Amino acid sequence: MSIIEVKDLNFFYGRFQALKNINLSIDERKITGLIGPSGCGKTTFLRSLNRMNDLIEDVHIQGRVLIDGVDIYDQGTDLQKLRKKVGMVFQRPNPFPLSVFDNVVYGLRVHGVLDKNTIEDRLQWSLKCVQLWNELKDRLEVNALSLSGEQQQRLCIARLIAIEPEILLMDEPCSALDLIATARIEDLMRELKKQYTIVIVTHNMQQAARVSDFTGYFLLGELIEFGETDQIFTNPADSRTEDYITGRFG
Ligand SMILES: Nc1ncnc2c1ncn2[C@@H]1O[C@H](COP(=O)(O)OP(=O)(O)O)[C@@H](O)[C@H]1O
Ligand SMILES: [Mg+2]
Repeated sequence: MSIIEVKDLNFFYGRFQALKNINLSIDERKITGLIGPSGCGKTTFLRSLNRMNDLIEDVHIQGRVLIDGVDIYDQGTDLQKLRKKVGMVFQRPNPFPLSVFDNVVYGLRVHGVLDKNTIEDRLQWSLKCVQLWNELKDRLEVNALSLSGEQQQRLCIARLIAIEPEILLMDEPCSALDLIATARIEDLMRELKKQYTIVIVTHNMQQAARVSDFTGYFLLGELIEFGETDQIFTNPADSRTEDYITGRFG
């Protein structure tokens, strides 16, 4: 079942067109990996799925992005609700310079959850989801910035999960992590997809091959090919995809 439907999406920074007529369906509770060389529009595409691009000046968008059947670019869209439903994890972990506790409950407070028991429950549940609870339960007051990079990235995921999103957008979430931490975050993603739809941008093809169910290949703002990960990596239909995955891309 698809949860996101992108239809004829064009995106412009000023007069520069960064996305060209993108059409794509993203399945619920699957991991969709987006690959392609630097500058091909992966981040722009990801940000168009929760209207983060709106924060950039002089941008222009055409087409539709339906989430649960509703066009998020409709006039009446509540952006706060949208970004609660479609959360984003960034390349560099960006915890707030606050305690672990305050980081995780931040979104709850923003969304008006004040009940102490609810907050405690959600805190524990979110930290357990990202497998940080045992490590941090006795240190909830430490500053999040004192954690390792991997812990910080997990904490950022916990912060999102605390407000019960449906979709997690991840923009090269492992690019600042070593191989072991990367493998652990990938394991976490496999766990999370039982409950969430994940769209991950990665410049690491092996990562896409390892974790994603579906893979899309972007080149110069176009979605060249999209399909099941096995097919994309073993039997690509487009020679440009093949050039990229076999490393022939210049
Ligand atoms: N804020 C911006 N203003 C103008 N151009 C941008 C901006 N962000 C990205 N671009 C351009 O859009 C294209 C796609 O960028 P991006 O989506 O970041 O690609 P990727 O994530 O695949 O590296 C690039 O040519 C980039 O220079
Ligand atoms: Mg990027």
